[in-house]
Amino acid sequence: MMARKILIDCDPGTDDAIALFMALGDPRLDVRLVTVAGGNVGLAHTLRNARALVGLTGKAVPVVAGAERPLLGSFEDAAYVHGEDGLAGVLLPEGPAAASGIAADAIREALRAAGPAGLTLVGIGPATNLALALATEPGLLPNVAEIVLMTGAWGEGNVTPAAEFNAWSDPEALAVVLGCGRPVTLATLEVTAQALATPSRIEALSRGGTGACREAACAILAGTPPSRRLGGAGSPQHDSCAIAWLLAPEAFTVREVFAEVDCGPGPGRGQTLIDRWGRLGKPANALVLETLEAGRFFEVLEQSLSRLP
Ligand code: BDR
Ligand code: CA
Repeated sequence: MMARKILIDCDPGTDDAIALFMALGDPRLDVRLVTVAGGNVGLAHTLRNARALVGLTGKAVPVVAGAERPLLGSFEDAAYVHGEDGLAGVLLPEGPAAASGIAADAIREALRAAGPAGLTLVGIGPATNLALALATEPGLLPNVAEIVLMTGAWGEGNVTPAAEFNAWSDPEALAVVLGCGRPVTLATLEVTAQALATPSRIEALSRGGTGACREAACAILAGTPPSRRLGGAGSPQHDSCAIAWLLAPEAFTVREVFAEVDCGPGPGRGQTLIDRWGRLGKPANALVLETLEAGRFFEVLEQSLSRLP
């Protein structure tokens, strides 16, 4: 079977780190490119982290720097969750140098190279890089096989009462991606809350084997503060839900929805309006992941870690 060609646009980020390991450890995914934005921490750190994480896996995947800040408004990080360095203080060896160029150009280039067979775009950070790429060369849209985003919530946010962090970081960019006309799947806070890294699950991963990636993953998971919003039982593995959807779709239930994002200046900025019951009568433009079998999710992660050095 041919591996699915994907690119990962990220802002590592503790949970981005786990997503990168999950994707790079599975031969069913052919990761063509990793692009990076500022998000969880500033771009200097997210880029260094992405290079280090990819380097640790030994995969020759180009890592390209992208947006330092959103399309509009100012940049604010989430170092209070991910630590000042973005990886919960876990020190990794320096990775290979970043590839030259900037993310939006590299994304367009990767789409061109993929041709009509298509490339799956996985967005697990602010959507700035993806929006810039898609808005500046819409002729490449047919080469987008599908888009999978970790973003948004149909209920409460995690950065403001209304908004989830990635959506809030760059709502205008998310609006561009949601409106691009290609199939979009959303892993929102509701599904990612079901991928909870609890102490016993981290312990099981740690007992599962050896290797630098497994050690790094377990240290990062152990160093991430448990979510107060979710009762302190563990840290939600937001970003790897987007990867798990590609690897184990049978572990999820889904629903077709109309989804849009609030780009206004008020307290609702960054809130995603997700019409799960078709009350607005608008045509569906996204698939939302609703439930996740957590055991299967951690099995997929275990399998990836067992294949990595
Ligand atoms: C999202 O925001 C970031 O803090 C995480 O890496 C994830 O992508 C969760 O709201
Ligand atoms: Ca992220």
